[in-house]
Amino acid sequence: MSGRIQQRTAGPVLVTGASAGLGLETALYLAEQGLPVHATVRDDATRQDVLRAAAERNVGLRVLRLDLTDPASIDQAVRTVVDEAGGIYALVNNGGIGLRGCLEDLSDREVRHLFETNVLGTLAVTRAVLPHMRRAGRGRVVTISSVGGRISSFGVGAYCATKFAQEGFGEALALEVAPFGIRSVLIEPGMIKTTRWTTNRGVAAGALDPGSPYREMFVAAEEVADRIVDRSRTRPVDVAKAVHRAITAEHPRMRYVVGRPASVVIRMRRFLPEPLFERVYFGPFLRRLRRAHAGATKPPADPQAGDATPPPADPRAGARGGA
Ligand SMILES: NC(=O)c1ccc[n+]([C@@H]2O[C@H](COP(=O)([O-])OP(=O)(O)OC[C@H]3O[C@@H](n4cnc5c(N)ncnc54)[C@H](OP(=O)(O)O)[C@@H]3O)[C@@H](O)[C@H]2O)c1
Repeated sequence: MSGRIQQRTAGPVLVTGASAGLGLETALYLAEQGLPVHATVRDDATRQDVLRAAAERNVGLRVLRLDLTDPASIDQAVRTVVDEAGGIYALVNNGGIGLRGCLEDLSDREVRHLFETNVLGTLAVTRAVLPHMRRAGRGRVVTISSVGGRISSFGVGAYCATKFAQEGFGEALALEVAPFGIRSVLIEPGMIKTTRWTTNRGVAAGALDPGSPYREMFVAAEEVADRIVDRSRTRPVDVAKAVHRAITAEHPRMRYVVGRPASVVIRMRRFLPEPLFERVYFGPFLRRLRRAHAGATKPPADPQAGDATPPPADPRAGARGGA
């Protein structure tokens, strides 16, 4: 197993937001690889679902409650893992929420809750595990950011701002904890079909308000996002594998991009001159939104006049839509 830490020395892993989606798959996959996993859930009612999924996959894991917006639950979960397992080797910062809607349509309450969960909550768990990792002289903090943490987009500005924030602290953390033998790693998935796109979609209350001047454009952007995510070939297990690499590689990278469209668009942003990137990546999308906006402000078209529906934006263009 060259270049990898032996599984048996890797130690206990705490995963946040493991009731569903990428967190659940990551917890199960890591347990399948033989790592001792402490899967944490926001809501105790989902504990049985996780245990059932583990039994179906024939793996054992411990399930604890941890709500990112409840500091006492964070302390309690970290203390339980340390008491039971003797320490924490890796933290997987996965739990989080989405918020979809144009910035003017968002309420302070919605934005505050988003930042409290994705930014302050993630930071709080990270701070809670660091003393234990420092004492052990080793550890991994793996944060599931997003391609949306590198490139923002229409209708997901607040969500992307939380992912940019995670990128900001994840990168600084890497420098701060390296002398203690701890690594901070950012995982950047593109769009992947999970409960994030259904029950946990997080559409802001004002986004679909008939009075919103952005409504028609938002609806058009959501249609594009749904088409992309429906066709996405990136799977939750791809994220789980990247997390496993981040935890077990002797020298993990600071960033792992997950999914081909996400890698393509991040490379485009890196290598194309900014105006060209904007034209190529955002141009067709923006034209589509302008048409949606113009359609909404014009009187209804004559139904005899034929189908004037514009062609859909190219769904292969990357992670547009806010992964
Ligand atoms: N799916 C994608 O396209 C995609 C792409 C890039 C990055 N990501 C990121 O990957 C991570 C997981 O996304 P996902 O697609 O798996 O989303 P998901 O299906 O919505 O799952 C999110 C998980 O986070 C939990 N959670 C929500 N609020 C929480 C809180 N206050 N405290 C603790 N846990 C909480 C949820 O628990 P409840 O259901 O009980 O609320 C759930 O277990 C997120 O950080 C997301 O931003 C997702």
